[in-house]
Order: sequence, then structure tokens, then C-alpha cells
Amino acid sequence: MDAGRVLISAEEIDQKLETMGAQITEDYEGKDLLMVGVLKGAFIVMADLARHVHLPVEFDFMAVSSYGAATKTSGVVRIIKDLDQEIAGKHVLIVEDIIDSGLTLNYLLKSLRVRRPASLEVAALLLKEGVQRVEIETKYVGFPIGPEFVVGYGLDFVGKYRNLPYIGVLEEHEAARIASEWS
Ligand code: IMP
Ligand code: MG
Repeated sequence: MDAGRVLISAEEIDQKLETMGAQITEDYEGKDLLMVGVLKGAFIVMADLARHVHLPVEFDFMAVSSYGAATKTSGVVRIIKDLDQEIAGKHVLIVEDIIDSGLTLNYLLKSLRVRRPASLEVAALLLKEGVQRVEIETKYVGFPIGPEFVVGYGLDFVGKYRNLPYIGVLEEHEAARIASEWS
């Protein structure tokens, strides 16, 4: 399986997550930390980042949907799976694969903030620069990237490529082929 051009290698990702994990370990020392992964995209980042966080962390997941079978954001966010627990008084760190328009995260942050967590921060592996439609404060960012559509390391195109160990840029002909299989 090949997605085209490699943008960020598996080694680069691992090094970055180690650095992010060390920072998170330092910042949350002595605090009750709950890491919340946003499914499905964040499942791989969550697993790898968490193993670089050396604290007694708790985990939960939310599932949201913001995309149909397209590479553009729809702006429509739907919570498919909510948290299993109350977060009042807890230090919550949302783990995301990528921030694109920011609409998904903006919606999530709003819906979690009213539950009164002790703190609410965001860790994202990728941040598409200059395309946010809402302002998002992201405390931990892995890699700022350009506006291209990327796949791998949890990120999909119409459900495929999530298991690539690196971040790749999807070639247009490949995107067109997969999209046609789905229409
Ligand atoms: P946003 O609401 O536009 O910030 O997009 C959030 C979600 O869209 C991410 O969590 C991803 O699931 C998906 N997404 C955004 N950009 C990409 C991309 O380049 N490749 C794959 N998925 C993406
Ligand atoms: Mg996602």
C-alpha cells in the first residue's frame, strides 16, 4: 500500500511524540490527567503519545463526524460517542490527529468546557497552517503543515490508509480512484 509522497516519516513522528510526551509529563506532574482521544483519527497518535507520558493517566474517547466521503470540511459536527465519565475537576487533554478548519475541535471544546474540567487543553499531531476558520489554542502541536490532504498514522481518505506508519500526501489520481469506488 502506497499513498504517494512521504511528508513525515515514522522516525520523525516518534521523535516528536517523545518530546511532546516529555513536556506533558512535566506539565501534568501531580495532577489528575485524563487524555481524551478523538476517534477515529487519533487512535494511533493516542497510543504512541500515551507511552511517552510517564504519569498515572486515565483515558477516554469521543467519536465525532465532520466529513462525508470528501476531502473538504463540511462544518457539520456530530457527536457519535460521548465520554464515559464526568470530567468536572479533572485535567483534560484532548488528543487530535489534525486540526484543519478547527470546527470539529471548536465544537468539542465548547461542549466540554461547560462540564467544568479543572483545565482543558489540546495536543494535535498536525496543524494545517493558516486555514483555521475559528481560533483554537493548541498547547501541544507536533508538526505545522501546509494545506495538502494527508493520510496515514490514523488519518484516512474515505476510510483507507489509517494504518500507514508515516504521514503521506495522497496523490490526486489515487484519491480519484478511491472516490470512484465509493460513488
Ligand atoms: P476540522 O474540523 O476541519 O479541523 O477537521 C477535523 C477532522 O477532519 C480531523 O480530525 C480529521 O479527521 C479530518 N481531516 C482534516 N484534514 C485532513 C487531512 O488532510 N487528511 C485526513 N483527514 C483530515
Ligand atoms: Mg479526526
